[in-house]
Amino acid sequence: MEPADRIIVALDGMGVERALAMVDTIPDLRWVKVGLELFSAVGPAVVAQLRQRGLRVFLDLKFHDIPATMAGACRSAAALGAELMTVHACAGSAGLQQALAGAAAGAEQAGLSEPPQLLAVTVLTSWDEARLQQQLLLGLPLPVYVRHLAALAADAGIGGCVCSPQELPALRACYPEPFALVTPGIRPAAAAVDDQARVMTPSEAVQAGASRLVIGRPITTAVEPAAAFARCCAELGSL
Ligand code: C5P
Repeated sequence: MEPADRIIVALDGMGVERALAMVDTIPDLRWVKVGLELFSAVGPAVVAQLRQRGLRVFLDLKFHDIPATMAGACRSAAALGAELMTVHACAGSAGLQQALAGAAAGAEQAGLSEPPQLLAVTVLTSWDEARLQQQLLLGLPLPVYVRHLAALAADAGIGGCVCSPQELPALRACYPEPFALVTPGIRPAAAAVDDQARVMTPSEAVQAGASRLVIGRPITTAVEPAAAFARCCAELGSL
C-alpha cells in the first residue's frame, strides 16, 4: 500500500468550509475521516462534497443499537458512498451481522460497486480498567475484553477493528491481514501529543501491524497541513 493510502486525516474541530478548504490544500490526500461532530453539524451532504473531490471517506459514526436499527442505519450510511464505517462491537453478533447486511443492501441500492468495509470499535480509549469495573461492573482485564470484542466482531464477519496503537501487536497476532487494524493516537516524532495519552509514530504503528492510521491535529492544525501530511508519508515511505 502506498503511504498516502495509509493515512486518514480526521476532520474534527472545524466547520465544513474550513474542512473543505483544508483538504483542498493537500493535493496528495486520499482519505478523510468524518466523525460525529462534523456529521452532526452539516449532515450527510459533506460525504458527497468530499467524494466529489475524489477523496475516500471513513464515516466514523460508531453505530450501536438494536439489530434492526443497526441494519437501517448502515443501509442509509452505506448509500452515501463512504468506504469505511464504524460500529460498536458490543452491539453483539446479531447487531453486527445486521449491520453488514444493511451496508451491503444500501450500497447495492445506491448502485455502488462494493459495500463499505465495517470496522468494529472495541473499547473506547477514554475508558480505563478501573472505571470499567466501577461504572459498568466489568471485571476483566482491559486487553482481555478488547480481544474478546474483536473476536466477537470477527466471528460476525466484520473485516477489521479500530484500535489504539498499544493494542496493535496483540490484535495483529490473532488477526493477520487482510483483517484491517485502523489506529488513531498517532503522533509524528516532533508533533504535540495534545490530549492523546499513549501514542506511536506513524512508522511505529505500521510496523506494529496497523493497516491505516487516523491522524488529526498533527496535520489539520499544522501551519502547512500539506507539508505535515507529506512528512508523514515520507516517514512511511522509508519503511
Ligand atoms: O487529532 P488526533 O490525531 O488526536 O485525532 C484522532 C482522531 O481519532 C479523532 O477523530 C478521535 O476522535 C479519534 N479517536 C481517537 N481515539 C480513539 C478513537 C478515535 O483519538 N480511541
